[in-house]
Amino acid sequence: MTAPTLKLVNLKTHFFTREGVVKSVDGVDFEVKAGEVLGLVGESGSGKSVTGFSILGLIDPPGRIVDGQILYRGEDLTRATPERLRALRGKNIAMVFQDPMMTLNPVLRVDTQMIEAVRAHDDVDDAAARARALAALAQVGIPSPEARLRSYPHQFSGGMRQRVAIAIALLNRPDLIVADEPTTALDVTIQGQILFEMRKLCRDTGTALIWVTHDLAVVAGLADHIAVMYAGRIVEHGPTATILEQPRHPYTRGLIGSVPTRGHRGQALFQIPGMAPSPLRLPPGCAFQPRCDRASDQCATMPDLRDMAPDHHARCWHPVA
Ligand SMILES: Nc1ncnc2c1ncn2[C@@H]1O[C@H](COP(=O)(O)OP(=O)(O)O)[C@@H](O)[C@H]1O
Ligand SMILES: [Mg+2]
Repeated sequence: MTAPTLKLVNLKTHFFTREGVVKSVDGVDFEVKAGEVLGLVGESGSGKSVTGFSILGLIDPPGRIVDGQILYRGEDLTRATPERLRALRGKNIAMVFQDPMMTLNPVLRVDTQMIEAVRAHDDVDDAAARARALAALAQVGIPSPEARLRSYPHQFSGGMRQRVAIAIALLNRPDLIVADEPTTALDVTIQGQILFEMRKLCRDTGTALIWVTHDLAVVAGLADHIAVMYAGRIVEHGPTATILEQPRHPYTRGLIGSVPTRGHRGQALFQIPGMAPSPLRLPPGCAFQPRCDRASDQCATMPDLRDMAPDHHARCWHPVA
């Protein structure tokens, strides 16, 4: 058994706002092993980005990690100094943001940025850094990378710009990449293609990958495990095929029902009724109960994540059979 690259234990990240405490992440557990892809799926506002930012040590006031552990190869990052987190970021742990311009500097040529990113963490000369930049661009499927290196970010299409941001994440051969909806702005075919390539790279290099998305269809065929998030908690977790074929949480079932499949072409898609709850006014117990057709009085008490099968867990009193 290899130890996981990353293990979250009861992670809680809250924002102390004037309106009240927003419990954006409220007791999240999951792990990712070397070379594995975890799909972290949930509607907008469910706490996916805050989970990602917490891992990278990028939570600013009024937000704070209030409880739990973030174990990166056994080291608890919730106790790491800002210097340690800075050293890990970009080298051992990389993040790809939804907007590639969070990574890219608009006024610098791509080669300048990539060479700087390598040399910030490794004492290598310009030529070696340039060679690594070229290799990373080729890995993410950028044609004629030599010519592309001399371009500015605005000279790329949206898809290519995001590939450059992903190449920068790969530059220092991180052990862990958190990709936060990096392909949402792109066409679904291209999204799948980029994730497919990323998965291959991670398998080959032993990099663990967390792929955050609101769209289950994007990770359906490509993640090893899926964790479904709702209102700051994981409500279901398991191997991808199990989650897709035997979802036990009514919310997961709803998400799957709203994904178009070939067999259902032409039929109306199932919609989860109601809206995601306001984080300041969560109902007691299971946060999904107001929208759930299986809810009972028992649901006013928060269910634990319970074993449905080995390696398959759901947080529900009345799991779908
Ligand atoms: N800086 C902040 N201050 C207050 N609330 C925040 C802040 N950042 C995020 N939140 C809240 O945390 C919840 C989870 O947000 P987020 O992780 O961005 O969701 P997701 O990425 O799943 O769409 C949301 O209710 C959001 O409003
Ligand atoms: Mg987000």
